[in-house]
Amino acid sequence: MVDAPVDATTTEAWDALRALADGFTPSLRAWFAEDPERATALTFSAADLHVDLSKNLITRPVLTELLALAGQVGLAERREAMFRGDHVNVTEDRAVLHTALRLPEDATLEVDGQDVVRDVHEVLRRVYDFADKVRSGAWTGVTGERIRTVVNIGIGGSDLGPVMAYEALEPYRQDGLECRFISNIDPTDAATTLAGLDPATTLFIVSSKTFGTLETLTNARLCKAWLLDGLARTGGVDDKEAVAKHFVAVSTALDKVADFGIDPDNAFGFWDWVGGRYSMDSAIGTSLVVAIGPERFTELLAGMHAMDEHFRTTEPARNVPVLMGLLNVWYTNFLGAQTHAVLPYSQLLHRFPAYLQQLTMESNGKGVRWDGTAVTSDTGEVFWGEPGTNGQHAFYQLIHQGTRLVPADFIAFANPAYPLRDAQDGASTDVHELFLANFFAQTRALAFGKTADEVRAEGTDEKGVPARVFPGNRPTTSIMASELTPSVLGQLIALYEHITFTEGVVWGIDSFDQWGVELGKQLAQQLAPAVAGDESAAARADPSTQALIAYYRKNRRP
Ligand code: F6P
Repeated sequence: MVDAPVDATTTEAWDALRALADGFTPSLRAWFAEDPERATALTFSAADLHVDLSKNLITRPVLTELLALAGQVGLAERREAMFRGDHVNVTEDRAVLHTALRLPEDATLEVDGQDVVRDVHEVLRRVYDFADKVRSGAWTGVTGERIRTVVNIGIGGSDLGPVMAYEALEPYRQDGLECRFISNIDPTDAATTLAGLDPATTLFIVSSKTFGTLETLTNARLCKAWLLDGLARTGGVDDKEAVAKHFVAVSTALDKVADFGIDPDNAFGFWDWVGGRYSMDSAIGTSLVVAIGPERFTELLAGMHAMDEHFRTTEPARNVPVLMGLLNVWYTNFLGAQTHAVLPYSQLLHRFPAYLQQLTMESNGKGVRWDGTAVTSDTGEVFWGEPGTNGQHAFYQLIHQGTRLVPADFIAFANPAYPLRDAQDGASTDVHELFLANFFAQTRALAFGKTADEVRAEGTDEKGVPARVFPGNRPTTSIMASELTPSVLGQLIALYEHITFTEGVVWGIDSFDQWGVELGKQLAQQLAPAVAGDESAAARADPSTQALIAYYRKNRRP
C-alpha cells in the first residue's frame, strides 16, 4: 500500500502561513530600512552560487513558518528516500536516482540489487571513449572522412537538456565539430537542420529513453533515408555499414535499438530510474560530451554533485533549493502567483528557461497526489523567461507595473565569456558592465519601485504621474556566480531539480511521472488515419475535430 502524503493544508504551519498572508502588506522599502542586515542575512552560498533572497516578499515569521512546513510535510525524510533509491516515483513504482548519475566513482550505492555507481561509470567510460574518437577523428564515416557534424535526434528530456547545455557551454566547444538537434515532428525541423550537411561527415545520435517516441523514431528514419540517399549519390556504400558508422543510440530499451538497425555496440544505455527530464547527465548527454569533451562533462557532473551534497546535507535554514522551493510555495499557495519567470543575464543561457519548463512543469503540473487522491492546493507554476536584456524590451512592463505577481529569478555572472569594449568618443566601456548594470537595476526597480512623490520631484505634471509610478514589492531572487563554467551550469541545473522536488513534496505529488502527456499521444495515433483520408476514422471524432480535419484535407495541396 502506498503511504499517503501528508496533506500540507492540514498542518499547523499552513494555518500560520495563511494567517500571515491574510492582509499581508509587503514593503521591501520599510523592511530594508528597518533591518540593515537584511541583505546579508538572506544571502546564501550553495556550492559556487551566491544567492540573494533578500528582495523576496518574506519576513522572519514567514520564513520560520515555511521551514516549519517543510518539517511537517516530511521533506527531509522524502529527500533521504530519494537519495537512497526508494521508489519515490510511486505511480511508476521506480526509484528516482538522477543524483546517482553524478556520484563519484568511489561512492557506493546499491539499489534493487543493482550496483548503481559501477553501472553509471561503465556507461560514462563508453560514452567518453566514443566522444574522444569522434573528437580526434579516429571515428570516421563510412567513406573514411572524419565527422564534422553530430545530429542529436530526440525530444523533451532527450533534447532540451543537451541543446540548452550545448548553447550554454559554447565557449568550451571543439572547433570544427558542430552539433545540431532535431526534435520536432514538423518536417521543417529535419529539413532545415539537415540542409547543407554532408552525409559523409555527419553522425546521428538517436536519443530516446523509451525508443518508442513517434517524433524521434520518425525523424531517425528520415535521417537514415537522407544519409543513405546522399551516400548513394556520391558513389554508393553498403547500407548496413553506413548505418553502423553514422548512427549511434542512447536508450534504456536496447532491444528496440537493435530492431531499428543500430548495432548494440554503438548504443549507450541508462536506466528506468532516470526520468527523461532528469537525464541530460546520463548518456543522453552524449552529444554534449562530443562537443565539450569528457573532461568538461566531468566538471559538469561534479558541479551537479556539489549541489546535490548541498541539498542533502545543509540545514534547511541555509539550504538554497529548500528555501527557493518554499518561497515558490509561499507565492503560489498564499500570495496567488501563477507564474514564475527565469531571467538569465547571459545570452549563453538563452535555452535555460525552455529547459526549466519541462523540468518544472512536467514534474509539478499535477492534480492528484502520489496516492491517487486529489491535491489540496494549487500546484506547479508556469515557468517562463528569456534572457535579459531582451526581456526588458518585451515583457518586463507587465512585471513592473502589471496587476499580476510574477516572482522572478535573475541569473548573472561576474565574468563574461566574451569581454568586449565599446569605444565611443574617445572613451571605452566594458560592455559586460553595462549588461550587469541592467541586471542590478532591474531587481532594484522591481523591489523598491518609484513613488508618486518621486515622479513629481522629477517635474512630471500631475496627470502624467500615475502611469509613471512603479509600485515596487515585485519579488526577485538574484543568483550570481563568477562565470558560467561547466561546473556552474551543473550547479544551476541541480539547484532547479531540487527546488522542483521540494515543491513536489509539499504538494504531495509524484514529481517524476508524466501521465498528462499520454492522452494526446494516443489520440494523435488514432487520428492519423483520419488525417490521411480514412472517413470512418474521421467520423469517430467529435464535430469540431471532424471539421478541422475536413478543412485540412480541403486545403492541403496534393
Ligand atoms: O512525452 C513526454 C516524454 O515522455 C518526456 O518525459 C520525455 O523526456 C520525452 O517524452 C521523450 O521521451 P523519450 O526519451 O522516451 O523519447
